Amino acid sequence: MTQAHEPHLHRPPHAGTRPPRLTEVPAFGAMIAEGWGSDIVEARVPDGVAEAAAAHRARLAERVGDRTVVLGAGRAPVRSNDTSYDFRADSDFVWLTGCQVEDGVLVLHGADAVLYLPPPARPGDPAFFSDAMHGELWVGASPGLAEWERALGVPVRPLAELDGALAHGSGWWAGRAVPADVVTRHGLEPSAELARACSDLRMVKDAWEVAQLRAAVDHTVTGFEAVAREIPTAVSSGGERWLQGTFDRHARTTGNGPGYASIVGSGPHAPTLHWVRCDGPVLPDAALLLDMGVETDTLYTADVTRTVPPSGRFSPEQRAVHDLVEKSHRAGMAHVRPGVHYLDFHFAAMEVLAQGLHDWGLLSVSVDEALSPQGQQHRRWLVCGIGHHLGLDVHDCAHSDWQDYMGADLEPGVVMTVEPGLYFHAHDLTVPPELRGVGVRLEDDLLVTETGHEVLSDALPIDAAGIEAWTARLLPTSAAV
Ligand code: GLY
Ligand code: MN
Ligand code: MN
Repeated sequence: MTQAHEPHLHRPPHAGTRPPRLTEVPAFGAMIAEGWGSDIVEARVPDGVAEAAAAHRARLAERVGDRTVVLGAGRAPVRSNDTSYDFRADSDFVWLTGCQVEDGVLVLHGADAVLYLPPPARPGDPAFFSDAMHGELWVGASPGLAEWERALGVPVRPLAELDGALAHGSGWWAGRAVPADVVTRHGLEPSAELARACSDLRMVKDAWEVAQLRAAVDHTVTGFEAVAREIPTAVSSGGERWLQGTFDRHARTTGNGPGYASIVGSGPHAPTLHWVRCDGPVLPDAALLLDMGVETDTLYTADVTRTVPPSGRFSPEQRAVHDLVEKSHRAGMAHVRPGVHYLDFHFAAMEVLAQGLHDWGLLSVSVDEALSPQGQQHRRWLVCGIGHHLGLDVHDCAHSDWQDYMGADLEPGVVMTVEPGLYFHAHDLTVPPELRGVGVRLEDDLLVTETGHEVLSDALPIDAAGIEAWTARLLPTSAAV
């Protein structure tokens, strides 16, 4: 049956004719280009960003000598069809510029730095109304090149000029986030040496970076408190995802967001190292592992773990595991000070765990054999590392050679985690039934000082009794078991 067309509808004259795009309608293009007041947005950059970035550029220039280097901010990956994941700028690029503009590119040669950025699409530019990714009508007003130049203290040029700037760039070193087509077109050299240089230089934090990490940790501590208060709701209905949502909202309101996928693991999920699905219930009598970190607006992240009893009291088995992990944690932290070999904290913490597992009758070999490079049987219950550098990346400085990372002595300004744990999976038939499904990790963020270390996250207790008291204090009184 044919339907009668409503006479007042302005349809294309012929069925099957595509209506024109707005960019194809000259009258519309002329009309929308005019009549807008100024909508200039200043570049909001936290205090000290520009100065810190300038110092970082000077350090990199000294390291690479006469070499010109090109680094990119990168682009958000596609999430589905025409929607993207949130954009998060490349860490080396941020370290060198303080800039977080998608598609930005830095060209650095000695003391000369030029930043190439996409200008906002403003009235008069058809993209203003037609580009859903960049048009200000779609995404809101953003700072222009002049505003970025003022805020960052670096010459800023339109991205369209990048090709000209790279015309003689053959052999220049390119960082990981420089677009592949730019690398190919100009014969740039994707450089592991550049990644290594940035990684090495980022290992010792300056005072401004330490302040960022301190803020990240402080916000993380209040985030843990917010999560603890929500435990009753999670137990009764919301489950792990409720607590994940609580922390992530806190991270988004106190900083840029979570610095990595928050881990909320209740009971049998706690031993799963990267339990980021967070889709299970929160069991009232099971240990609850929380590994969460706030990333600041300047993109420095904390990385903290506590394992808490939702009821306010650990079971005897949970407590015994926690006590052993705490002993290991204290042994590890005691080796964090300048001049000490980086890996000593690891060996000290491992020794305690291997001995404890042996005392519980879980090791079928001697402690010495387990700790030998050819043994490692104790690692069945802890296959991960137990610490790492921390900074712009949660696993910071990962592009250094192992000798420069693990083979070096600690220096003042290093920020690192210490995070021993024991992970008894629910289906691990080699441990007694009462230990199955118990996972415990303690993770703190430490700053190496001139004389020793400072635990940046020491506002959170590390002993089982302290954690019980901390949890019970935060649980609404009507929910205390
Ligand atoms: N949350 C990741 C880690 O602890 O290394
Ligand atoms: Mn960690
Ligand atoms: Mn962690």
